Formats: sequence, structure tokens, C-alpha cells
Amino acid sequence: MNGKVSVIICAAGKGERAGFGKNKLLAPLYGAPALYHTLKKFAIPEIDEVAVTSSKEDFKEISALCKPFGFKVVRGGKTRTESVKNALNEISGDIVLIHDGARPFVQKSIILDCIDSVKKFGSGVAAIKFTDTAVFGRLGEITERLDRDSLFRVQTPQGFLTEDIRRAYSLAGDKVYTDDSAVYGDFIAPPRLIEGDEGNVKLTYKTDFKSENPAICCGEFDRAGIGADVHCFGEGNFVTLAGVRIACDKGLIAHSDGDVIFHAVMDAFLSAAGLKDIGHYFPDTSPEFAGADSGKLLLKVMETVKAAGYTAGNVSVTVQAEKPKLAPHIDEMVENLSKICGLPKESCAVAAGTCEHLGFVGEGLGIAAYCVVTLKKITN
Ligand code: CTP
Ligand code: MG
Repeated sequence: MNGKVSVIICAAGKGERAGFGKNKLLAPLYGAPALYHTLKKFAIPEIDEVAVTSSKEDFKEISALCKPFGFKVVRGGKTRTESVKNALNEISGDIVLIHDGARPFVQKSIILDCIDSVKKFGSGVAAIKFTDTAVFGRLGEITERLDRDSLFRVQTPQGFLTEDIRRAYSLAGDKVYTDDSAVYGDFIAPPRLIEGDEGNVKLTYKTDFKSENPAICCGEFDRAGIGADVHCFGEGNFVTLAGVRIACDKGLIAHSDGDVIFHAVMDAFLSAAGLKDIGHYFPDTSPEFAGADSGKLLLKVMETVKAAGYTAGNVSVTVQAEKPKLAPHIDEMVENLSKICGLPKESCAVAAGTCEHLGFVGEGLGIAAYCVVTLKKITN
């Protein structure tokens, strides 16, 4: 046994129940086809080879998604059973994990547990305990009550020794199964269950793609935003940057306090949340914001972002100025950002530099700041 691990990702379905009029795995989920997120989960060093099943119609699009990962695409069949059977002939690992392309939320720990279980016990199938009361019956009548403690809902990934599952599939003939653990169970042995995850849901209906799906709100999909601001030097003897008052032979001309860093941070957060920019929330024509403390405005932005359903992930700032010297003030700037954004200090960074006498910053005409932030969806 060479210990090589292959993965088959099933993506050759039609996604009829989702009703997108095309394979649901090519429908967008967080800005990319749903399948992209699943593929990404398997691009890890513990996995040596990945084969993705595709229908003839989707072959071009799925190949384009697989190319950056170096995954191969193999022709699927009319049923999932047929798709897996074809793919089993195209892989070379001793161990194979079979996974539904429709489960993009799978956690790395489950993938690794699955591999370990195959190494130790010959199989490993992700499953979760039943939590509802379970009965046999038909609508209108319960015919038997079941012991839910011995009932499980079976998920993927499902891992096996390749030679075993290949043998099981060849013995299965033309019989159609909904998953691989049943094929293995019929012809090899009862498969070993490992603990799956409630979040590892299978995208089946259109609503599963919407943000009401708790799995989608799991915070796994961060949103990024960018912000920039510039203010020009004028009369004065100090500048305010990230809330720190720093002595300078000039001041910054602005309607507010001219804090370019806080302004860039605000725009970055609003942008990450898909909201309008600071000019919309705090117009520089409004007397209300004349000389405004930008720290207070940033606090309002954080409340707005929270109300939109997001929480801050991290803040990364770069400020460019020929003067004043900023290095001695960076720690205080980080402290202010951390307090206002509600983040640990390690999640707030400020870098400062000059422009080597090039451009308007380099000529000492003003100060520029750029900021990138991430947001996570708030989970209830
Ligand atoms: N699958 C496959 N080959 C098929 C049918 C399904 O590889 N002939 C894959 C699907 O792409 C999906 C997984 O198997 O990732 C689980 O199937 P399911 O959730 O039923 O997806 P679809 O068959 O595409 O959806 P539907 O049943 O609603 O048409
Ligand atoms: Mg199906």
C-alpha cells in the first residue's frame, strides 16, 4: 500500500430540484460557482489526486474550474452510481474519498478523520446523529416508533480502500444507489461511521443557496473591502491620524478633522458590507460634520455594518506621508483602531512609509491612506 489518497468529487448531476435551469453546482454561491468552494476544500497536502465527475454539457465549465487546482475531470453517468463507477476507473490512490460536489461546507477535520478511519479500519463515512423523534409510517399514521439513538444521517465524504469499493461497485451491477456506503455495505462490510457535521449540508433546493441557509452564514466566507483617502496639507501645527494627534509644521485641510486613516477604514468597512461610501453617510457639505471627530464617525460606521449583519474580521492600513514621522505613533493608532472596531490588536495593522519624493505625497503636498478590511457574517 502506497498510502496515496485520491478523491472523487461528484458533480455530474443536473440539479433538477434546485430549479436553476442548469447544474446547481454552477450556480453562484458567494461570488463563485458553488462547486468552486467544494474543490477548494480538497486542495490540501493530505490529498494526492482529485477526479471530478462531469456531464457532457458541463465539461468545459467544470474543466475551467478544476484547472487552477490541477484536478482532473472525468465523464459522469446518468446516475450518481454510474458517475462514481466511471470515476473509480480513473484514479490511482490506495484510498479513495468520495464526496458530493453539492457539499461545499465540509470541514477539513472531517476530511482528515475520514482518511484516518480508512487507514485504521478500512472505511470511514461521515454521519450525524438523528436529533428529531424518528418513526416509521405514512402521513396520517405512525406504524412504529424508532430508537433515534441508533439512527444516523449519512453524509459525504465517504472513504474506502480503493480495491474494496471498486469490487463492491462491480458486484453491484446495474443497481442504483444513493451513496457509496450502501454499495460497500451490500458487498464488502458494514462501513465505519465517523462524526460528520450539521453544517456539512447538501445544497439541494434553491433556498439552500440563500443567506437564510445557516450553513452559508457560518462565517467561513469572509467579505473584503477596500478604502482610500487623501488630504492636502494647509495651515496648522498638527495632524490627526487614526485618532492620534501628531505635531507637524502643517495641518490637513478637511471638512472634518482630516483623519485620512479613519476615513479609509470607514470606506473599506462600508464597501465590504456592500454599502454606500462615507460621503453618503457623512456629507462634507453638512455643517453637522464640520470639524467632526472621525473616531466617532468610524464608531457609527461599525454600528451600520453590524446592523447590516456583519462583524469585523481584520483591518489593514497603509499610510503614506513624507512628514510627520509616524513610526513612534503606530502602537497608539493600532490601539485606537482596535477599540473602535472591536477587534483584538493583532487584527489591526498600520504600516507607514514615504513616497521617496515621488508624486504629491513625495512632494510633501498631502497624506494618503489605504485600507483593506474583512467582515464575517454574524451567526445567530
Ligand atoms: N451526481 C453525479 N452524477 C449524477 C447525478 C448526481 O455526479 N448522474 C452528483 C451531483 O452533482 C451532486 C451529488 O452527486 O453533487 C449528489 O446528488 P444530488 O444532490 O441528487 O444532485 P443532483 O442529482 O444534481 O440534483 P437533483 O437530484 O435535484 O437533480
Ligand atoms: Mg440527484
